[in-house]
Amino acid sequence: MSQDMDTSQLQENDGQNTTNLENSEESAQKKADSLRAQIRRANVLYYAQDSPEISDAAYDLLMRELRDLEAAFPELQTPDSPTLHPGAEIVTTFQPLLHRAPMLSLDNAFNAEELRAWEEKNLRLLGGAQSSAIEYVCELKIDGLSVSLAYQEGRFFKGGTRGDGETGEDITYNLQTLACIPPVLKKSNAASVPTFAEIRGEIFLSHEEFARINADAEENGGRIFANPRNAAAGSLRQKDPRETAKRKLDAFFYTVGACEGHAFESQMQLLNEYGAWGLPANPHVRLCTGIEEAVAFCEEWDTMRHSLGYDTDGVVVKVNSFWLQQELGTNSRSPRWAIAFKYPAMQVRTLIKDIEVQVGRTGAITPVAILQPVAVAGVIVSRATLHNEDEIRRKDVRIGDTVVIQRAGEVIPEVVEVVISERDGTEKEFLMPTECPSCGQTLVKPAGEVVLRCPNSACPKKILGGLQHFASRGAMDIEGLGDKQCEQLILTGLVKTPADLYFLHLQKESLLKVERMGEKLATKILENIEKSKARPLANLIFALGIRHIGDHSSDVLASHFGTLDRIREASVEELSKVHEIGNTTAVSLSDWFANETNREMLDKLAEGGVAPEANLSAPQSDLFAGKTFVFTGTLVKLKRDEAEKKVKQLGGRASGSVSKQTAYVVAGESAGSKLAKAEQLGVKVITEDEFLEMAENS
Ligand code: IVH
Repeated sequence: MSQDMDTSQLQENDGQNTTNLENSEESAQKKADSLRAQIRRANVLYYAQDSPEISDAAYDLLMRELRDLEAAFPELQTPDSPTLHPGAEIVTTFQPLLHRAPMLSLDNAFNAEELRAWEEKNLRLLGGAQSSAIEYVCELKIDGLSVSLAYQEGRFFKGGTRGDGETGEDITYNLQTLACIPPVLKKSNAASVPTFAEIRGEIFLSHEEFARINADAEENGGRIFANPRNAAAGSLRQKDPRETAKRKLDAFFYTVGACEGHAFESQMQLLNEYGAWGLPANPHVRLCTGIEEAVAFCEEWDTMRHSLGYDTDGVVVKVNSFWLQQELGTNSRSPRWAIAFKYPAMQVRTLIKDIEVQVGRTGAITPVAILQPVAVAGVIVSRATLHNEDEIRRKDVRIGDTVVIQRAGEVIPEVVEVVISERDGTEKEFLMPTECPSCGQTLVKPAGEVVLRCPNSACPKKILGGLQHFASRGAMDIEGLGDKQCEQLILTGLVKTPADLYFLHLQKESLLKVERMGEKLATKILENIEKSKARPLANLIFALGIRHIGDHSSDVLASHFGTLDRIREASVEELSKVHEIGNTTAVSLSDWFANETNREMLDKLAEGGVAPEANLSAPQSDLFAGKTFVFTGTLVKLKRDEAEKKVKQLGGRASGSVSKQTAYVVAGESAGSKLAKAEQLGVKVITEDEFLEMAENS
């Protein structure tokens, strides 16, 4: 608001005496410089460091104020103004990737009136070219990271971030690890594939995956991301593609850059064809006639979007016909044929009444703000994570502070910033405890880590956290055994370790005495405990809650070793030779399995009937350990899947795409682009016979 007032005051000065005009120009100049500096800083923090300091809404306001100012004083617009160059300066070591067609940004509308004004402008610009109502396509505006994927003859060969719109960063190797990006576009009669196309869309993280990544970082002292979008950007900018591969990134594609050998007539057709080619396109789209139908779509999704499971921050309204799009054209930074309707940010102010600490299952001590309850995006929030001591110091959060909170990823509420101007001097600094609030043991902070931990393996909160994790979804998935039930079982002494669950049926009488445990629930829990014995080995490994072992590492270990016993007996050297298991993880595993209490628990689990085996493909040797093979062309002696199975049995990995990390490309008859890529990257190429010779030497 205040920004708009500033500008109107400046405009009112127009035509007044020269001194006033000079003064106003001078102050407008100062204001513009200051706005540009703030926007540039925000750009670098947002795009290059994935660590924004201001909210999107605040950023939009700065941009809007600068644009208004430049409109009132066109002579103030500098050629390098951020209003002409959306995006950021590129400051990483990724190779630059020049987009054939620039990646533009969108103008914003913040309410229905602004959408209507946009339609009026469209109608004016189209003049005689459009006699009936304009058709619009309404799409959700996905809050992620925009990427451009170049497909040549239907094959994905290069991909990059937006960067400054002209040049992005080449993140091809990382993008190749994403399951949501098809290496080859599906051909169908209905949708012939372009000879070349820059397919554009948004990479994002679901709330579930975002929460998993941050929880993992909280437990293991990794980097905490402010929201799913920053986490997605951070994941895509990993220097090691294997790190990107560990995170389940998703994508929706919605527009095209340069395109040859194919013509789209409308946005609706583009979205349908993307779907037919195997590119994920968001299903929540609507073809609207006239702007009022588009306004209705925006209003409907204002609440519905909260149950999507991923972040959206608005609706993009696009003119459907490509011919009309061309008529309308683009200005320097954004197309005139599309506009982003932005929902207000889901941030609110509230008071920090107290700060408590929680003890996690690995003993990690997490400070939590106890808030004056407040509604954020339709949910009452009374607690917000403060992550760790460093975060409290960085944000200078004190008890009694008024803070801005947001539901980051709409799941975990977090404190964004302190409203310093609300301080009255009565706020109290928070000091982290030196002893565990659960068991009293002196807390430790290993050198180089930010997380304070309770080292006591018998700490009741750690045991409880471990049991809750064991029973949770993705682990042993024991329905009915929620957090409360776990607490009751521990409090009554019926269960001391997860293995005790498998003997609980022998104590049904005592189980029935547990608070709020009726016959029905007890039977259900016992049945589900029994069912959990059939969970795959990977789930059991994950359920054990070993530090650094997430669901992906659990999968890797299960398919490499096949049984828990084999992992248990493996040395650190053997473990660290497994592809995707680093040294830290190997040491963590080895320490865990060496611990006597853990070994007893494992024996008891086996005694209770929990002994899943992975249906292998278990490696019979480690001849190919750490080596990735890519098969291309037609193999004569082996089928493709047999060859890949052989690689796995020998401890290696088979992949569909060639990268610098590939050890060998096995080229069969009429091998094509993968062979060319191998040669270009200097990857060793062998024949099928040479492969068989290597494999049979095992
Ligand atoms: S169309 C010419 N459609 O929003 C611009 N963009 O603020 C083409 N975005 O840079 C963009 N969802 O990263 C379009 N359904 C959607 C979108 C979308 C998210 C992003 C995109 C764009 C930014 C503009």
